[in-house]
Amino acid sequence: MKNDATIDIDIKRALTSKLDSIDFENLKFGHIFTDHMMTCDYENGSWQTPKIMPYGPISLDPSAKVFHYGQAVFEGMKAFKDDQDQIWMFRPKDNFNRINISAKRMAIPEFPENFFFQALDTLLKMEKDWIKKGFGNSLYIRPFVIATEPGVSASPGTNYKFMIICSPAKSYYNGEVRVKFSENYSRAADGGVGYAKAAGNYGAQFYPTNLAKEEGYQQIIWTDANTHSFLEEAGTMNIFFRINDTLITTPTNDRILDGITRKSLITLAEENDIKVEVRKVPVQEILDAAKDGTLKEIFGTGTAAVINPISGFGYKGEKHELPVLTDSYATFFKDKLMKIQYNLSEDKHGWRYLVK
Ligand SMILES: Cc1ncc(COP(=O)(O)O)c(C=O)c1O
Repeated sequence: MKNDATIDIDIKRALTSKLDSIDFENLKFGHIFTDHMMTCDYENGSWQTPKIMPYGPISLDPSAKVFHYGQAVFEGMKAFKDDQDQIWMFRPKDNFNRINISAKRMAIPEFPENFFFQALDTLLKMEKDWIKKGFGNSLYIRPFVIATEPGVSASPGTNYKFMIICSPAKSYYNGEVRVKFSENYSRAADGGVGYAKAAGNYGAQFYPTNLAKEEGYQQIIWTDANTHSFLEEAGTMNIFFRINDTLITTPTNDRILDGITRKSLITLAEENDIKVEVRKVPVQEILDAAKDGTLKEIFGTGTAAVINPISGFGYKGEKHELPVLTDSYATFFKDKLMKIQYNLSEDKHGWRYLVK
């Protein structure tokens, strides 16, 4: 699918901008959207000319397959502005590859690479004033694909819409996050769609997460569907456990999202002489380590929060609090990753992508 050919993009600019009405100091994550969006239709067996148009509602037939059979996949990525007003992204090629991996699993046609990057660059340049300078400010980018073909027959659609929408974001303190280790509910099963960013994976988590919230937890760490005895990942984050000075995280497989933050952190840990074990994580091992005081940290990794420290967890009615560390790995890696993202430190691995 590698194709660098220049494509046409139909551009219709918004007549007015919402920018002046936005309070950038008090942004709630994912609630405000920029002035424009990208949309590209798949019709007659091929992706048509991408369009950039004013952000707004779209019209779909009520029988569109996305509503009935959940043929929908998405991505989450961010753009950052450095002090010279350059716009950077972090490993966007990995997001591009992943949306096509997700699409394939959901029988959605793959999107061409040159369409993706040319449309994305054009959109980001149009929205450059929405990306504020300063450590922690970013533009959250949400590419997604839905099946638009009308008809309630249970078969893959022939028509799709690939869209990109953007939302300004600020790094914020998430509050204390306590998680419940799942005892009965499962997010993903062997042979299923857990590794895909398929919309239904997220919708299916809301009910068990609401139950966990009633018990005082903010999120769930999912366990393996067969035995519920191995810890896997959280709803939108991969998970790391620090026992003594070693980090442990579960291997990716067909139940787990191959997180870009996760794999970047593994690389950074290795080059900073922090030992990482990528292996199955038994619930019992974490319970034992919490009891004997060797469990130092649990944190989640993901594009939205970069690294989200977890302050406590619960399992089978028992609650455990984690120590508050001044020299946490969570803080160390968050700083390292963000400095690369904001063009404030060397980019040894070629992870930064300049929007041109
Ligand atoms: C289920 C799940 N796990 C992990 C992640 C973290 O992935 P990344 O670091 O690529 O954002 C996400 C977010 O994309 C997710 O939805």
